[in-house]
Amino acid sequence: HGLKQGSGAPGLKGRCPTGFRYHPGSTHLNQMISSLPASGKLRDILRSHYSANACLLPLCQLHGAAVTTVEGIGSTKTRIHPVQERIAKAHGSQCGFCTPGMVMSTYALLRNKPQPTMDDITEALAGNLCRCTGYRPIVEGCRTFCQEANCCQANGSLCPCLDGEKPQLFDKLDLLPLDPTQELIFPPELILMADTSPQTLTFHGERVSWVSPVSLEELIQLKAKHPKAPLVMGNTNIGPDMKFKGILHPLIISPTRVKELWLMCFLSAGVWVGAGCSLSELHSVLKKLVPQFPEEKTEVFRALNRQLGNLGSVQIRNVASLGGNIVSAYPNSDLNPILAVGNCKVSVISRGRREVPLNQDFFVGFGKVILQPEEIVVSVFIPFSRKGEFVQALRHAPRKEASFATVTAGMRVMFSESSRVVQDISIYYGGMGPTTVSAAKTCQAIIRRPWDDETLGQAYDILLEELALPPSAPGGKVEFRRSLTLSLLFKFYLEVLHKLKAMVPEKIQPLPREIQPVLPLLHQPVSKDQGNHDAVGRPMMHRSAISQATGEAVYCDDLPKIEGELFLVVVTSSRAHAKITGLDVSEALQLPGVVDVITTKDIPGKKVRTFCGYDEELLAESEVSCIGQMICAVVADTKAHAKRGAAAVKISYEDLPDPIFTIEEAVEKSSYFEPRRLLQRGDVTEAFKTVDKVYEGEIRIGGQEHFYMETQSMLVVPVGEEMEFNVYISTQWPTLIQDAVAETLNISSNRVTCHVKRVGGAFGGKVTRTSVLASITSVAAWKTNRAVRCVLERGEDMVITGGRHPTLGKYKVGFMNDGKIVAADIQFFANSGNTVDESPLVAEKMVLHMDNAYNIPNLRGRGAACKTNLPSNTAFRGFGVPQSLLIVENMINDVAMVLGCPIQEVNMYRGPSTTHYKFEFNPENLLRCWEEGKRRSDYSARRAAIEQFNQQNRWKKRGISIIPIKYGIAFSDGFLNQAAALVHIYKDGSVLVSHGGTEIGQGVHTKMQQVASRELHIPPSKIYISETSTNTVPNTCPSAASFGTDANGMAVKDACQILYQRLEPIRKKNPKGTWESWAKEAFMEKISLSATGFYKGPDLYLDWDKMEGQPYAYYTYGVSCSEVELDCLTGDYRTLRTDIVMDIGKSVNPSVDVGQIEGAFTQGLGLYTLEELKFSPFGLLYTRGPSQYKIPAVCDMPLQLNIYLLPDSENPYAIYSSKGIGEPALFLGSSVFFAIKDAVAAARSDSGLKGPFSLNSPATPERACLASASPFTQKVPASKPGSFKPWALDI
Ligand SMILES: Cc1cc2nc3c(=O)[nH]c(=O)nc-3n(C[C@H](O)[C@H](O)[C@H](O)COP(=O)(O)OP(=O)(O)OC[C@H]3O[C@@H](n4cnc5c(N)ncnc54)[C@H](O)[C@@H]3O)c2cc1C
Ligand code: FES
Repeated sequence: HGLKQGSGAPGLKGRCPTGFRYHPGSTHLNQMISSLPASGKLRDILRSHYSANACLLPLCQLHGAAVTTVEGIGSTKTRIHPVQERIAKAHGSQCGFCTPGMVMSTYALLRNKPQPTMDDITEALAGNLCRCTGYRPIVEGCRTFCQEANCCQANGSLCPCLDGEKPQLFDKLDLLPLDPTQELIFPPELILMADTSPQTLTFHGERVSWVSPVSLEELIQLKAKHPKAPLVMGNTNIGPDMKFKGILHPLIISPTRVKELWLMCFLSAGVWVGAGCSLSELHSVLKKLVPQFPEEKTEVFRALNRQLGNLGSVQIRNVASLGGNIVSAYPNSDLNPILAVGNCKVSVISRGRREVPLNQDFFVGFGKVILQPEEIVVSVFIPFSRKGEFVQALRHAPRKEASFATVTAGMRVMFSESSRVVQDISIYYGGMGPTTVSAAKTCQAIIRRPWDDETLGQAYDILLEELALPPSAPGGKVEFRRSLTLSLLFKFYLEVLHKLKAMVPEKIQPLPREIQPVLPLLHQPVSKDQGNHDAVGRPMMHRSAISQATGEAVYCDDLPKIEGELFLVVVTSSRAHAKITGLDVSEALQLPGVVDVITTKDIPGKKVRTFCGYDEELLAESEVSCIGQMICAVVADTKAHAKRGAAAVKISYEDLPDPIFTIEEAVEKSSYFEPRRLLQRGDVTEAFKTVDKVYEGEIRIGGQEHFYMETQSMLVVPVGEEMEFNVYISTQWPTLIQDAVAETLNISSNRVTCHVKRVGGAFGGKVTRTSVLASITSVAAWKTNRAVRCVLERGEDMVITGGRHPTLGKYKVGFMNDGKIVAADIQFFANSGNTVDESPLVAEKMVLHMDNAYNIPNLRGRGAACKTNLPSNTAFRGFGVPQSLLIVENMINDVAMVLGCPIQEVNMYRGPSTTHYKFEFNPENLLRCWEEGKRRSDYSARRAAIEQFNQQNRWKKRGISIIPIKYGIAFSDGFLNQAAALVHIYKDGSVLVSHGGTEIGQGVHTKMQQVASRELHIPPSKIYISETSTNTVPNTCPSAASFGTDANGMAVKDACQILYQRLEPIRKKNPKGTWESWAKEAFMEKISLSATGFYKGPDLYLDWDKMEGQPYAYYTYGVSCSEVELDCLTGDYRTLRTDIVMDIGKSVNPSVDVGQIEGAFTQGLGLYTLEELKFSPFGLLYTRGPSQYKIPAVCDMPLQLNIYLLPDSENPYAIYSSKGIGEPALFLGSSVFFAIKDAVAAARSDSGLKGPFSLNSPATPERACLASASPFTQKVPASKPGSFKPWALDI
């Protein structure tokens, strides 16, 4: 058991988010462990409080330790803790699922360091992922604990305070002080327990036994007797293996109480460090040692420290042991290359003791070292470096923090006194094969030669040959990895030259890290006449933020277990396209706890769900069309039993020919979901004949995983009579779930009630896919007549539920020499996967938005949803617009590159305008955003500064870009633009509001509370929203299309106005009465205190035959300007600054809206620069957890992020003149993509390459580095496409 299963504490949030070996970036870092120092010198310097990942921490290992979860530090019943308060008040909690983790990481830091620096804070938060906020508000909340400059004044003349603008989103003076003396103490009973003499501990589980010896002798004997039993120290390698790969170790030995493994011993030649020492302990020991010795002696220590600062996250380093890291022998271990070049060795013991050098003979294969199974590493010797010796650690990872390295290296060179001739050199790489590898031949070529260009120039060629990777090497990125070996060596070369005080062509500074305080955010102050009770327009905190920060907020899986409840695990196809020839569940049914296996035959009602006119089977019957398609489901008494049952189901297949994976294959075979869409205006073909130039290009955009922190979760409870069911579920559309369950069980909708309390993130992914899962779960509940819970693990969720459509855009564009585009012909191909879902609608929206901010007189666009044998893709924030606009903006960018001047402005809509679907609108606010964006970002001056920077730097380049958006709000299917609400006033004056929107983190409930507060003229504190349910508000529409507040706000307003009117006679009779007295009086006078409200939204439509209509209610506009710095040698980049100006009318809640803008921007930044789905050539998703799939972390935040809300904007089409904001800002993340592209263009120009070039999205370091065409990337021969089977597909 990990701590999560063992505790039952709701604050221990988390869906173990990995499906594979490693586990960086876990979401559930939500506890602090306090332990007493063990005896032994090393432990004396230990911190006794540390944060750890709940999922990886074995319960047995916590014997004698005190565990503090988020519930333990503060609660609304007693007193909340300042950390909880500050994260909540700074608006750092949206869906709240990550909040306990953020709180506990910060809390653990403050227990050890009550006045942290910003660096400490970003380090503490590095391993925590948040999908909603964009991190800025979390960091700002934590910043209030820092002593450092806490104010916007740090931004000098840019600070709007100086212009008299002083709006704040939260008041720093209104915060509880942090008083370290009030913190929990270490439990005295544990101190007493530790004083008694320790004894061997043994625990027996169903299948696993755990022994924890206390002496080295006992440990040696145990290991000799059970050589196969692993030694579990930090459990960061063994834990994920057991959890996700199903590896069973019947016996586990836990030597954490053997003090010899913690000892440290200083010698004149170096230091022996106990192998049990955690990586954090090693880090702090080395940090303390470095200043005590002359610099020349601590080269290895410093190199290790550099790597330790980047390895995993604090929570991993707090538990992962040094010995465990060495013995785990990861191919891309960060420490092993340095330990090897540093001439380190290990002392091992079994029946005898021996010392073994950590050199190339030590690492014998993937995860294998030369030691005998019964041998135990007791300690590790790290020697001092010698005079004339230089050691460096280098690494490149897909994300700067909490990410395993793509390539990592240790390099050491030794010169004899005052000479530049190499006396000795050692180079080791990780990530270049199954083990840590030595570049021995390369070293041979350098040794005894001068450290200069010529020597190194020859060494690169040898290195390239020595560390050749086959083109289909596991992990892919072959050319990139090969070029990295060269560029990392080059970096080492420059660094050593610098240390030798030689003339260095360019000192490469590391990318900047310091996150700056935000400028106070410009929001729209409410008018002076607005009453105090009226919360509309004010930055009100998310109404559940405090509950979320204290861990009290209840998510679907926090619901207590119901008597007899079962757990459901689905069994999915392992083939992309095959006939099912056999399904054998007999073995599964024999297993302990397994109750039943549900197949399609068990479904009493409709066996399919129908989307866009196509039927989709709930459970496959005779044929499968993708890996991950659901075939059957096992229900058992526990999750563990259901998982074992699912693993025992045997399915045989007969492969069908020619599966289709890529867009190109689909196009070639005309494999589409109909209808395909065409929109055009003008005469494109004729117009091409009239232009100065024509350019054709294309760009590919990868898909995106929703990565909501709460995976798909549901609990279906049979009421027990008359076929009635309660469904507790994490969904954006309760009515769809109700319909689906009713149809599947062949019952009427009035027997199914869906309840949605809150959703831990959704982003479009909790609509259609959730309905299919809910249907299956309901069949299990119906058949067994027991409550059934289904909560997907991260890996399952990623394989089964699809995400954003990968898209290929092709365009032909005709333009004049002044930059004016006269004609464009664009094609959008969306990889839709194996079922239709909403794909044709996504393709439609691509075509509808293709004009963006530009008035192109002759414009033609075609959108097609391609049918492939991959998991079905679905709605995702922006619904096709983020792909469409990247294609369009890339086309604009290409034209600008052909002409060598910017062309956005000359093509923008101006004055009264008409779109390509003949809809008239006024682009004035778009242009105002554009001008404000240029002004706020100081665009022209910075562009000039960047040009100068780029001239002065060869290996670092900066780039800047500014991007506009015009985004249509509401559903183009007019019937979906409706909403209802139900408002009750109770006799005590308290108000309960129900409406059709679901709280998915976007703050809709908070905004509805504000609306009710204005309409009823009472403070928001009197208003409560409990849940969204289909028995209070029926026939709802999805919380989607950025339309939730617009629609539900009007319905709530309507209901409240009705009630307020009804109270009018009472109010008139007793004008001095209180709200409470009126409510009571109304009851006495038999006035109904309950009302429904309704909103009939606009009848939007598009006539595809006539190519005209009004598909949107209005547009939300925005502009974003981003600047990046790119390391051309590795492709690493950092966003230095982003300024966003958004026109959202008059915001109902500026803090919530700013949160939506930042969150969407960050998700866009992930889409366009970081997040990469990888599929095997057989259609299997490799990237099934946070270790392989990188969403933005705190290290990806722009160093400076400023959000401005356009002032004086009115919108007659939405509530209180506001505008929908959930989706539009996502596309603005592309400003980072185009800034990277701009920096790459500068690098290419140094290599003599000019004009447009191809850079697909995401612009990962790999793509940016290869496109930069440095001399190192150019040295690596490209493998001929078609001559090998690539490791991953370009889908
Ligand atoms: C999320 C995450 C991110 C990570 N990121 C990085 C990274 O960026 N860079 C990197 O290099 N590593 C990274 N790691 C790997 C991590 O550093 C190792 O898993 C860790 O150091 C292993 O130590 P442990 O104590 O947890 O090992 P355990 O899982 O407890 O044990 C691992 C193995 O080592 C053996 N073992 C342990 N101690 C001894 C001993 N004293 N003598 C003999 N055998 C022993 C065990 O028998 C077992 O087989 C990451 C791991 C995770 C989970
Ligand atoms: S608030 Fe962080 S994941 Fe939702």
